[in-house]
Amino acid sequence: MHGDIEKVLIGRDRIAERVAELAAEVARDLRHALAPAASSAAAAAPADDHGRVVFIPVMTGALIFAADLIRQLPLKLSLELVAVSSYPGRTVESKGAQLASELPRDLAGKHVVVVDDILDSGRTLAMVVGLIRERGPASVRTAVLLDKKSRRVAQVQADYVGFDIPDAFVVGYGLDYDGHYRNLPDIAVLRADVVNGTGA
Ligand code: IMP
Ligand code: MG
Repeated sequence: MHGDIEKVLIGRDRIAERVAELAAEVARDLRHALAPAASSAAAAAPADDHGRVVFIPVMTGALIFAADLIRQLPLKLSLELVAVSSYPGRTVESKGAQLASELPRDLAGKHVVVVDDILDSGRTLAMVVGLIRERGPASVRTAVLLDKKSRRVAQVQADYVGFDIPDAFVVGYGLDYDGHYRNLPDIAVLRADVVNGTGA
C-alpha cells in the first residue's frame, strides 16, 4: 500500500489538529442553535440535552472523518448514515452522485450536520442537502475535511472545511481509489502509474 503513494499531502498530525478545531467550531455553533431563549421555561435544561442533533456522514468516504469529529463533540447526538456512489471502480472522474441507501426519515425539527470527506464537483453534497431539507429539519450544516474549490460544478459550499486542496486525486483517511487506501492515516497522492492501472 505505502509503495503506491507518491507523496503525503496532509499528515495525520495536521489532520488531527484541524479536526479538533473543526469540532470546537461545530460544538459552539450547535450549542448556540440549541440554546433555549432566555425567557423560556426550559432555560434551566442543559443546552445539549434535547436529542435534536443528528450527524449524517456520507458513506463510505466520511467514515473516518466523522468518527474522529463526533468523538470530540461533548453533545448529545445521534448518527444516521447515507450512502452515495459517484466514483464506481477505477476512475478518478465523478460519474454523478447517486443515492445508494435510504435517507434517514425522522429529521423534522432536528439540527442536522452532513459530514463528507471531500467537496469536489459539489454534486454529492448538493443532492444530499436538498433531500434532507425536504424532511423539514430545524437546520442543516455541512462539514467536509477537504475542499477542491477549483472543481466546483454545483452551487454549494460547506459551512466547515478542514483544508482547501489543489486539483489532485487523493486517498487516505477514508478516501479511496477503487475501494482501497481508506485505511491510510494520512491524506496522500497516488503514483500516476497506480491510478492509470499499470502499477503492481
Ligand atoms: P462531488 O460529488 O464531485 O463533490 O464528489 C464528492 C465525492 O467524490 C466525495 O464524497 C468522495 O467520495 C469522492 N471524491 C471526490 N474527490 C475525490 C478524491 O480526490 N479522492 C477520493 N474520492 C474523491
Ligand atoms: Mg463520498
